[in-house]
Amino acid sequence: MADFKIAVVSGDGIGPEVTRESRRVLEKIGSIYNHTFEFTEVLAGGAALDQVGECLPKSSLETCLASDSVLLGAVGGPKWEGYPGDQRPEMALLGLRKAMGLFANLRPAIIHPALSDASPIKTNIIGKSLDILIVRELTGGIYFGERGRRMGALGEEAYDVEAYSETEIRRIAVTAFEAAMKRKKRVTSIDKSNVMESGRFWRSIVKDVAKNYPEIELNHMFVDNAAMQLIKSPQQFDVILTTNMFGDILSDEAAMITGSIGLLPSASLGSSTLGMYEPVHGSAPDIAGQQKANPISSILTAAMMLRYSFALNEEADAIERAVEDTLNSGCRTEDIATEGETVLTTKQMCDEVLKHLG
Ligand code: IPM
Ligand code: MG
Repeated sequence: MADFKIAVVSGDGIGPEVTRESRRVLEKIGSIYNHTFEFTEVLAGGAALDQVGECLPKSSLETCLASDSVLLGAVGGPKWEGYPGDQRPEMALLGLRKAMGLFANLRPAIIHPALSDASPIKTNIIGKSLDILIVRELTGGIYFGERGRRMGALGEEAYDVEAYSETEIRRIAVTAFEAAMKRKKRVTSIDKSNVMESGRFWRSIVKDVAKNYPEIELNHMFVDNAAMQLIKSPQQFDVILTTNMFGDILSDEAAMITGSIGLLPSASLGSSTLGMYEPVHGSAPDIAGQQKANPISSILTAAMMLRYSFALNEEADAIERAVEDTLNSGCRTEDIATEGETVLTTKQMCDEVLKHLG
């Protein structure tokens, strides 16, 4: 029996719809296993811009920092596209990651056997199942480097700097190697060291960290080749270790080859148990408020929270099993339904998961 304080950033677009469902799953877990989850809604993103004129109010950040973990829906949308760079809803997400020290983003790209036909890649290439873990650096690199406008030889120009310190590379490499030790013991580190100095530095530090993990098979790949290899032979990957920017791009690609970005969770972690749990999908403004969104990504995100922040492995397993059973029983939201299949609403899909939870 334990009490956990969870800050909920429902955010924008489909965020509120999907987090509403994952909260129901957590509540049910609480009642089965005798835990109390105390939810506090926190205003951030476009919703905060509209209501209080800034994307990450100080009080929101304070509530997140004082919680045991943060459950995020999604932020952003076309409505706020005109805002200056430092005020956009996305800055709330980046601000939270930075202020909470969440340097490691774990993004599993998994194909559920029940959905092996959903992949846009031919079955002889993708196989019946796929299990890749992307370990993306999350608080450094070009996302947080110096940026600005200046006058150059050809007139006004804009710049964003990619910089990585040894400390930043070392700690994310350790995260990747430790994760790989519990999996197939393969790490592919992805950089652009044929062109970038930061890439050469990245590679040399990763090699050095690898000395402490003699059992791990380490490969290095240039990012352009990695983008190709993910399509050509995805089965070669176990753990992918990469920078903030390359991880952003490759995790969308990896998600897409699994067939539905609506199924994939992610965990953003730092050096304490405080984490932020973010579905990989965005705010999907085109389907927001229509009960079309798949809540499974948010539900599996809640499972990751139980596992990584609260060490409730049995409870996390139970959610993952319930999701698997729900998919096996043929339940489908629009994004994963094939022709002729009944399409469930966001809430109905969660109802099914709750039934399978017992
Ligand atoms: C992601 C998103 C974010 C990112 C955006 C919304 C700032 O694309 O989590 O992958 O670029 O990190
Ligand atoms: Mg992204």
